[in-house]
Amino acid sequence: MYLLSKYQDNPWMGFNEIRKKYGDVVSLKMGQCKAVLVSSAEAMREVLLLKGDVFCDRPSFHRYGLIFGRDKHNSLALCDWSDLQKTRRSMAQSGVIPKYGSKCYKDLSKCIENEVNLMVKQTIDCKETTILTKQHILILCAKIFIKPPNGCKKFLDAVHNYDYIFHDINQCYAIDFIPYLSVLGLHKSYFDFVEDSATSLRNYVEKELVGQRLEATVDRLENEGIDAKEGRDDFLELMLEHYVRNPSSMSWSECMYEIGDLVGGHSAVGNLLMRLIGFVALNPNVQNQLYIEAKNALKRLPNDEGIINLEHRPVMPLTEASILETLRLTSSPIVPHVNKVDATLQDYDIEKGTMILFNTYYLNMSAEYWSDPQQFKPSRFVSSSGSVSHISKPDHFFPFSSGRRACLGYKMVQTITFTAIANLVLNFEISALNDEQRSEMSRQLAPKGCLALDLSDKCFKVSLSPRPEK
Ligand code: HEM
Repeated sequence: MYLLSKYQDNPWMGFNEIRKKYGDVVSLKMGQCKAVLVSSAEAMREVLLLKGDVFCDRPSFHRYGLIFGRDKHNSLALCDWSDLQKTRRSMAQSGVIPKYGSKCYKDLSKCIENEVNLMVKQTIDCKETTILTKQHILILCAKIFIKPPNGCKKFLDAVHNYDYIFHDINQCYAIDFIPYLSVLGLHKSYFDFVEDSATSLRNYVEKELVGQRLEATVDRLENEGIDAKEGRDDFLELMLEHYVRNPSSMSWSECMYEIGDLVGGHSAVGNLLMRLIGFVALNPNVQNQLYIEAKNALKRLPNDEGIINLEHRPVMPLTEASILETLRLTSSPIVPHVNKVDATLQDYDIEKGTMILFNTYYLNMSAEYWSDPQQFKPSRFVSSSGSVSHISKPDHFFPFSSGRRACLGYKMVQTITFTAIANLVLNFEISALNDEQRSEMSRQLAPKGCLALDLSDKCFKVSLSPRPEK
């Protein structure tokens, strides 16, 4: 903790110093927490894949408990491994990671396409330059996950609240590692605020979003037959149908926590998309290449709406690569794992209950692995054979982790971000509002090993100017 205190803005730089001095597997004492810092891809694979059945629990931070009804096991991402988690993951999988070409995949693609199209049309209708904020992007993503019911104000508050909680979970505080600091009472009002925000959000999601929709879904499936409805309005409808069709051993409260967690995934997508928009605004040459790629793709595979959709993905590798490059520069950390029993890692003994910290920041940002690592260069992920270009990812790049606790939302991230950025650059020139905003954007987008941007009122904004022709 003492070593890291010099790097408050980016603790991963401190961890890099530790790696440089002591090697790829380093035992640390962080407050009351025993931890191991892992910085090589090989050691990470040992934890995540080879010994994934042992290193599969999560740390227990008081703050996490407060967000999830005083029990971290209510959280999909922060619970220890259990049979319940296995059930929850398999329930979530088919909704959140639909198979390419399946009905679920097509429905999801359509939801995304409709919302992005609506946003683009509404912005074009304004004719003049529009200011795009993080709040706009969060709302776009939220509407793909859940169609707002009546009472828009409450929905907007929920979007804000989700982002607040997401931002908080992404932070790392001394009190997480030194819980007795809370005895001093200094954090009480902050803890109360976090808990109240999470509780009111959960009540709103349960009563006003999911509850009513669940009844309607049960009625509809009973009366119409399972496949009668063409298309789905949002991701929530897909999830609810999936739960109704596949009753499991989960309780109602467990289902509610799971759906609430997955719906909250929109904040992660929104923050990543806003980062990508920022990088595109700061790099006009890349933006121009993305525009040309989108224009050519639409010429090759035209449609009535003039919109880029997931069918264009195979012919738009640079757009796909711009998402990977944003993930690399973001370096969102892998959630720490904890070993259930005594274990070994790279021949070191690791005592049961040790927190494993994954230094993917080093793998993503080191000059040993990438040329100009600080620069936004999507082309680094594109390879060509003859006239065909395709995505190529090095083995040491795994932004969604792998193994039994790997991210469940990667497909939602890829599909929403792809459709949104492709249609934005096709229709608008994206730029910084002015020089002051440009340097603020560079500051906020500087790699810090954290996905959450500042909350909407403090986050940078960009301007969208309609392109004269597509
Ligand atoms: C930019 C966006 C995202 C990034 C970079 C990201 C990355 C990650 C990473 C690195 C993990 C930890 C894996 C591990 O511990 O081994 C994770 C876990 C998880 N992610 Fe994501 N994620 C993103 C978006 C999403 C979205 C949109 C959803 C839901 C729709 C989601 C759902 C989850 C869940 C449920 C887990 C916990 C899985 C478990 O512990 O069993 N993620 N994510």
